[in-house]
Amino acid sequence: KTRIIIDCDTGIDDALAILYALRAPDVVVEGITTVFGNIGVEQAADNTLRLLALARPEAEIPVALGASQALVRELRGFSQHVHGENGIGDVQLPPSNQRLVSETAAEFIVRLADENPGEIVLVTLGRLTNLSLALDLDPGLKGKLKKVVVMGGTIFKPGNVTPVAEANLWGDPEAADRVFTSGLPVLMVGLDVTLKTLITTEHLELLKRYGREDNQAIIEFMDKSLQHYFKFYRDANYVINGAPLHDPLALMAALQPDLLTCRQMKVRVEHQGEHTSGMVVADLRAQPRIGEFIEVAVDVDAQRAVGVFLSAFM
Ligand code: BDR
Ligand code: CA
Repeated sequence: KTRIIIDCDTGIDDALAILYALRAPDVVVEGITTVFGNIGVEQAADNTLRLLALARPEAEIPVALGASQALVRELRGFSQHVHGENGIGDVQLPPSNQRLVSETAAEFIVRLADENPGEIVLVTLGRLTNLSLALDLDPGLKGKLKKVVVMGGTIFKPGNVTPVAEANLWGDPEAADRVFTSGLPVLMVGLDVTLKTLITTEHLELLKRYGREDNQAIIEFMDKSLQHYFKFYRDANYVINGAPLHDPLALMAALQPDLLTCRQMKVRVEHQGEHTSGMVVADLRAQPRIGEFIEVAVDVDAQRAVGVFLSAFM
């Protein structure tokens, strides 16, 4: 079984990724760490606890609070226009009795990696602030994490926050550059591939009809929160009746890397440019010289990936 920590800014697609991880076979969720991004970090933690109460109330999976702002930048607002006021499409889930752990997100990541060297896969679904802080706490972290799967960035398609930057990297570009040049075994799953895996209203109908009986509450949550997400993608991106599974694809890739086609690339994340901050600069020259090698997803078997996602709930 793959042992994972999910680091997320629990918005709608983060929620889908968490629910997928709680239902997928062959995975142990060792903990969930939260970060600002789609919403504030406290709200991200509260959403996470409520999702755990909905999907796995008996498990007491540890949840840690992480960074409330970027390493050096002022907070530039949240993404409530995409994810709703509360980050999960304004669906009101019952509160949880579970408390947050007393460690910070960075401390939690460092301790788990230290206690289980070579075992833990960290899946980041938000800003890379917590992981950057974890590198400060333990410079030896790169030899202890098995892999870091990052949902973020884009190389071959436009960005979603600026013409060249994707939200998770744009929100803390200093942290992203630090992580990408740290020597950690990073797999970047960017917008250019996640935009190929759409969940549609037809898929939701399938889930409602064929979803397992004990998953009906989860499916009802997905249905309601996705209405918000569909509306945003229709109005802002002309996607009709569908929305991309950004964060779930990164999570699935951590468990089934063969869903993706990947390439080694040397990359840096721009953090000084006025119009280019958060952009992934990939050195695609025959003899790359800028940045460090990471693995980058360049394509996905989209039909299979969506099938894998849906089947976890059926
Ligand atoms: C990423 O940004 C967030 O809004 C989503 O949750 C996802 O992690 C997509 O750019
Ligand atoms: Ca996210």
